[in-house]
Parts: sequence; C-alpha cells; structure tokens
Amino acid sequence: MKMEVKNGDSQLLSKLATNNEHGENSPYFDGWKAYENNPFHPTKNPNGVIQMGLAENQLSLDLIEEWIKKNPRASICSPEGVNAFKDIAIFQDYHGLPEFRNAVANFMGKSRRGKVSFDPERIVMAGGATGANELLMFCLADPGDAFLIPTPYYPAFHRDLRWRTRVQLLPVVCESSNNFQITKKALEEAYENAQKANIKVKGLIITNPSNPLGTTMDRATLRTLVTFINDKQIHLVCDEIYAATVHSLDFVSISEVVQEMEDYCNRSLIHVVYSLSKDMGLPGFRVGIVYSYNDIVVNIGRKMSSFGLVSSQTQHLLASMLSDEEFVNEFLSESTKRLASRRGSFTKGLEQVGIRCLESNGGLFCWMDLRKLLKKPTFEDEMGLWSVIINDVKLNVSPGSSFHCHEPGWFRVCFANMDDETMVVALRRIRNFVEKGEDAEVITVKKQNKACQKTLSLSTSQICDENVTMTLSYSSPRVISPHSPIPHSPMVRART
Ligand SMILES: Cc1ncc(COP(=O)(O)O)c(C=O)c1O
Repeated sequence: MKMEVKNGDSQLLSKLATNNEHGENSPYFDGWKAYENNPFHPTKNPNGVIQMGLAENQLSLDLIEEWIKKNPRASICSPEGVNAFKDIAIFQDYHGLPEFRNAVANFMGKSRRGKVSFDPERIVMAGGATGANELLMFCLADPGDAFLIPTPYYPAFHRDLRWRTRVQLLPVVCESSNNFQITKKALEEAYENAQKANIKVKGLIITNPSNPLGTTMDRATLRTLVTFINDKQIHLVCDEIYAATVHSLDFVSISEVVQEMEDYCNRSLIHVVYSLSKDMGLPGFRVGIVYSYNDIVVNIGRKMSSFGLVSSQTQHLLASMLSDEEFVNEFLSESTKRLASRRGSFTKGLEQVGIRCLESNGGLFCWMDLRKLLKKPTFEDEMGLWSVIINDVKLNVSPGSSFHCHEPGWFRVCFANMDDETMVVALRRIRNFVEKGEDAEVITVKKQNKACQKTLSLSTSQICDENVTMTLSYSSPRVISPHSPIPHSPMVRART
C-alpha cells in the first residue's frame, strides 16, 4: 500500500530537527518578523518599523567598497583577477589558503591593538562565529554536559551552542547592582549547583565585549576566570567577535592574559572565537574562526570545519584585503571612531529624554534601562512595554528577557545598522513616546517596596524610589504576547 506523505508532517522528521531547542521562538526573533512585515523606509514607508534589533555594523562599508574598486585583482570575477579563477575555484583544503590564514592571524592581532599576536597554524575556519561556537561545543563536550554562561547573553547561543550538540547552558547570574560584572561568588554558585544536580560542567563561555551589554572585562576579571577554570580543569571559550568595536584602548583580549599567566594556567583549556561579521561588518561572508591553544582541538576542529568552510573565493579576496597593512590600519582606526561617535550621539539623544544606558565601550548596541517605565518590575510588564515599543513606537528593540537577563526592564538597542537620518527618526520617536502625555495611558512608578523586593534581586532603590514618577504615553496600547499572530514567514532570515 502506498503511504501518503503530507507536506509538512513533522512526525516523519528527526526529533532533533523538530524540537524547539533552536530557541528561535523568542521575542528577539519575533521583533525581526515585525520589522520584516513593515520595514521603515524614509520615503516609501516612513511609518514603518525601524530595525534596532540587529547587531550589524554598516558604518564603514564604504571604506571596503573603495578598497575593492582600487584592487580589482583581488576578485577572481574581474578581468584583472580572472587568471586566478581556476586555482581558487578548485581549492578545497580544509586548512584554508595559507595566505588567508596569515592575513586573518595578522588582522586578529591588529584588532586587539597589536598587544598580542596569533599563530596562523592555529586558525581554524568555520561558518561565522555561529559555526565556530558550535564546532567548539562538538569538540569540548558530550550531549548532556554543560557550559556556564554569564547572564544576560546572546539569545542565539541556544541555537548555536545547544541545539544540535545537546550541550546544556547553565546561567551565572549577573546583576545590575555591579553593572552586570561577573563575580567569583556567582561562578562558584553556578558550578556548585551543577554539581548538586549531577551535571558535568565542561567549561565557561563568555563574550568579551559583551553582547548585549557592550561592556568589556578588565584584566583582573579575566585573570579570575582563568584561575577559576584552571582550578576546576574546565574549558574557557571567549567569543571576541566585537573586539575591534571597542573605542577605548583598554580592551584586554584573553590572549594577553594567556601570555601573562603562562606559568599558572593550562593554556590548552583556552579557546578564542572570532569572526569578521562585526568588526568588519561582513556577516554575509560567513568568516568565523576558532583559535585554540589546544593542539588536539586545532587538529580535530580542522576536520570538523569541513562542514562550514569559508568559500575559497572569499578567502582569496580577504587574503588580499587583510594583507594590505595600510588599509587595515586605517579601516580599524576609522571604524572605531565612527562607532564611538554614533554611540555618543545616540546615548546623548536618549539622555536628553531621561533614558540612561549602562555605561559601555564596545559592541554595536546599548543596554537601555527602561525599568522606570514598568508599572511593576515583572517580565510580564517588560513584554507589555516591548509590545508597545514595537507596535506603536515602531522600533524593533529587544527585551532583556530574551537575553536571559534576570532583571526586568532592560532592552538592547542597536545603533550601527542604520544611517544618521534613520537614527534621528528613531530618536524622535523615542522622544515622542516618552514626552507625549496627557490623553494617553500613564504609567506611574511609585514606591512598591514589597512587590519590588519579592520580584527582584537588584538594587531596588533605582526602581522603588518614592520620588520617581515617570509619565509615559502610548495611545491605545495593543499589548500582544511575544508569540502573537505576527505571521511567521519561513523566509525570515536568521540574522543577528
Ligand atoms: C556574541 C556573538 N557571537 C556570535 C555571533 C554570530 O556571528 P556570525 O555572524 O559571525 O555567525 C553573534 C552575532 O550577533 C554574536 O553577537
């Protein structure tokens, strides 16, 4: 008898593919769908949603375009470069083009201000930092093993680190009372809780600079982490994808600490993840790097990288671009300047309407403190406010809960994926939202000591100050759930 197979019958598919562990059923991704359904355009759709949920760096792409125009030989698809076409088109060695690995290692050093150097022999390719993070999990942990991760953290880590590997993520709770810095106490607590639950902890993963906080870890904190993982004999994975977005000179890469602590740490426990998606603004090129101090991980990582190689065409182009010292120096210096200037004007605009962001020095976003706008310090109210911001203010910002933040009222807002004019419109909308008043819904934040203490573990003074009376407005709030019937297009691109 012939069996009828219905199109879309998930029972016929694997459990892994059809479970929900990919984590994409989150307001973080729903916000993008709202944007995709009604994208802002200055003339064609001026009332559309402005995308502020996308950590993309579009501020310096003109510099790359200029370089490409001046260097037609770097492309195998130009009359000047086509001679290399045949060799490049058939290249498929998972070690990568030697000139590409050299150039990337050199760029990694420069993007860390030349304070540390990287060995091209340790560069392993992957499909973006997404592929690099997953590849490392496959190398370091078995299904059911766990990695500790400080909160708040990048929402897509659920997909990247857990979904296919079946590794668990255990939160290390960080709090606003110390600007979300990771503490030894919180680390030990998370580790002990795992032990009590009989969960094998295989490592700690951090992002430095942090997504979503935009903050960087100081040397002392990094040394504490290295000591911690060394004591426990577990791995440390450092995702440094935002290394060159830091405008101050004080970014400390884990690689510097590895050098300094050479005699006290087992460097084979330490692995760096990098990518050109943020620092160069090239997420479409899918250039991800695992840089491991562990020889075995480099060796097996290479073999695993067969599943996510960078195309040889991209390697060829970038080998040429990133070997151009003059270009790289100028690009890095100009890009950090532009990012700093954008961050400055954006946060200043927010300050003018009384909105504070966590002080930060890196990343492509700010961690906006809207706690005062919540009626009650609950995640339910955070979702309510988020719905209003998306549906009425028409800005796609991402709620803190989607970053697994333990305190309601924080939102990540991206500022480098738009031009100056769009940023001005976004700020104007925020201003109107905060200042508009009388006839609209009013949220009054008054002292709610008991409720606050019950729900929150943060310094309640900021929320529960008797004198704080914030008025904000939104006409006809359409409060929807994060899983509201925004059409879920299968075509929505999984961008971050
Ligand atoms: C911390 C972090 N890691 C990894 C990624 C994924 O980057 P890629 O585009 O290189 O895969 C992102 C993207 O937003 C990120 O913020």
